[in-house]
Formats: sequence, structure tokens, C-alpha cells
Amino acid sequence: MLSALLLLLLLLLLLSPASPLEVFVLGGSGRVGASTIRALRDLSPSSTFTILGRSPPASLTSPLPPHTFLPYTLPASPSEADVAPLAALLSPASLLIHTAGPFQSVRFPLPLLACVEAGVDYLDVCDETALIREILKGDLSERARKKGVSAIVSAGIWPGCSALLARRAMALLPPAAAPASPASSVLYDFYTAGTGNAGPTIVSATFLLLATPVLEWRAGSLAEGDAWTEEREAGFGPEVPGRKLLRNLDCPDTYTLGLCTGTPNVSSSFATAPEVWNQLFSLSKRLIPKSLLLNRAAMQGLAVFSNPIIRLVDKLVGATNAIQVTATAPTGERARARHVHRDLEEAVGQATASFALEILEGKVEPGVFVPAGLSRENADAILDRVCEVGKGGVLDYEVRLL
Ligand SMILES: *[C@@H]1O[C@H](CO)[C@@H](O)[C@H](O)[C@H]1NC(C)=O
Repeated sequence: MLSALLLLLLLLLLLSPASPLEVFVLGGSGRVGASTIRALRDLSPSSTFTILGRSPPASLTSPLPPHTFLPYTLPASPSEADVAPLAALLSPASLLIHTAGPFQSVRFPLPLLACVEAGVDYLDVCDETALIREILKGDLSERARKKGVSAIVSAGIWPGCSALLARRAMALLPPAAAPASPASSVLYDFYTAGTGNAGPTIVSATFLLLATPVLEWRAGSLAEGDAWTEEREAGFGPEVPGRKLLRNLDCPDTYTLGLCTGTPNVSSSFATAPEVWNQLFSLSKRLIPKSLLLNRAAMQGLAVFSNPIIRLVDKLVGATNAIQVTATAPTGERARARHVHRDLEEAVGQATASFALEILEGKVEPGVFVPAGLSRENADAILDRVCEVGKGGVLDYEVRLL
């Protein structure tokens, strides 16, 4: 009798549907977080969402899928003491997606540490190279591996998909004898019209980035330059009319691509439209002291204050986002990968959700990864998901030899 009952229980357990995937989104009330949730709901309909943030989502242009809200504010100067309380809060989650930027001047990766402690998978959209270096230099990846935690940092559109596009362009070049890179040089070009609909967030991030040193690879060594001091011209294909004047700006995919592939020269440049926006950045860079540019609260304040102007400009210039990566082989062959999306905010959400799905499906092995260091299978699956032209606002996607 007892064994029959046990058998019945076992049968019920086997037949019951897999428990839903609990996705926690830190900063889910913000535009990037909300856009990620909308995209991930489409990719993974069985996921449930919990938003962690200062305040519940309000006044978003598109509504969010059903979700739970948990009040949580990231401490201004996080320390070891903050890890355990956050880990306790995160323990029911399958995955934490951290979109609560800006990441500039953060050096203690509290949400990632809490996830490793709680045994929860992790993803973020960190665009601060110094923080990525901090994360990569310790034994955090080893600790994550021991806990069975899969984590990807800098997993948005750029940084994130830009590194995957670089790898795809490099794959077209004649292969070099491993471990040498097939490319002797990789250039990242980024273009966003207005704020790409992302509003004050990207403006405050850009102000912070202007004061952030630009880390590049030159002839196999890391070199630090001053942001917005070097100019380069580029066109972005048929969907982006005209040539753009780009200026050097830091992007973690520059550092991580050189690190993971051994490419000796890697650099990144950025332009926005209208050109007066670029000039405004140049002016701010010259007139505003570095300490103020690096002041997160002040720059967020300035960006929010300028919000009506930002919105107006966005209406006029659109929100197109373009990434173009050019890889050059030592023998001179060149390959290019390009991704153009009608809206930066949507593009970030789709990219982050595509990385997230790879983790939710259990395909990313335990450890802490940057996109440039993911397995070939992971990288290909994620990029294919992001680049389906005509779906979800992708205007152009092309990878070819030049
Ligand atoms: C890149 O690095 C290599 C060797 O480290 C160097 O020979 C080459 O001239 C550099 N520049 C470019 C644009 O490839």
C-alpha cells in the first residue's frame, strides 16, 4: 500500500510541469530593464518576473507583462556586508538580470557576488571596463563554477552583441594558427540617433563615459587614452544615410576582445546625431571638471533636467542604433559585421533577453563570462537570435568580406 502511494507520488512529480523560471530584474522599472522583460517574455513565455528597484514601474510607454515588485535600493558604496542580505532576497530566483546603471565608478560587483553566494545565475549590462577588469581578475569565476552559477557580464547590445559581431567578422578571415587571432586589428564603430529612445539614462552614461579613460589595444599592449579626442569617419550602410564623424569612447568589448582573442589592435568610436549633440559632448568635456562629470547624481540630474530637449530631439532624429565592426587580417583581408536597429531601447532589450535565454535554457556552463569569451555555440545562438532581420525592428544585418 505504502509503496503504491510512493509510486503515485513519484508519478505525480514526474508529470507535474517544470517549475516556472523565476527571473529577477534589478532596475526593471527603468527603460532598459523594462525593455528586457518585454523581449524575454516573448522568448521565454513560461518565465515569471520579479522587479527589484527603488520604485515600481511608472509611466512607461509600453506596458510591462505581469510581475511582482520587490523594493530594493543598491547601496551607494556597497561592501561585503551587503552581500548576504541581497543573497537572501535573491534566493528564489533562477536568474538575476542587473540593468540598474549607471555602472560608471562602481568597483564592487555586489549583485554578482550575491548571486554567486545564493547559487543564482547572473547577467548584467555593465558598460564600465574598470569594473569588468575587477570582476575578471579575481577568483570569482572559479567560485561561480564551484557553485554551479552561470554568469555573463556586459551582455547588452553594446557592449554585448558588439563582441559577438566582432567574432563573426573575424571568423571570415583566413584562420591563424591558434592561439593567434586571425585579425591584426578590430575597429568598433557605434552610432545612435539622438538617445535611441533610451532618454536620460544614455545621456548621463555618456557624460560619465566622457570622463572615463578609453582603454584600447595597440600592438598587443593596453593603452589608455583620453575620451573624445580622436576622430574617424565611417558610413553605416544603406539604412543610415550619410557619413558620421566618430570620436573615441570606451567600450568594454574593446578590452575583452583583445583579452579573449589576442587581437593586438582593438579600438572603439561613437557618434550620435544630430552633430550638435557630439559638439555638446565635446564642449561639456572641455568645460565641466572631470570630478563633476564622474558625479553620478549630478549627471543623472543634468540629464533629467534636459529631458524635454532630449525627447524633442529624439522625435526629430529617430532612435536608430548601428554597430559596425571591421576586422583586418595581417595579410590585409578585411571583413565587416553590421547590425542596425530602428530603436536602441528595443535593441538593448532584445540583446539582453537573447543572452538571458541562453542561460535559462541551461546552455551556458558555470563560470563568469564576457561575450568575447563565450563558447562558439553560445555566441552563435545568441547572435542569431538578435540578428533576425525584419523581426523586432532589425533593419540591417550583414557579415561579409570587403
Ligand atoms: C597591430 O599590431 C601589430 C602587431 O602587434 C602591428 O604589426 C600592426 O602594425 C598593428 N596595426 C594595425 C593597424 O594592424
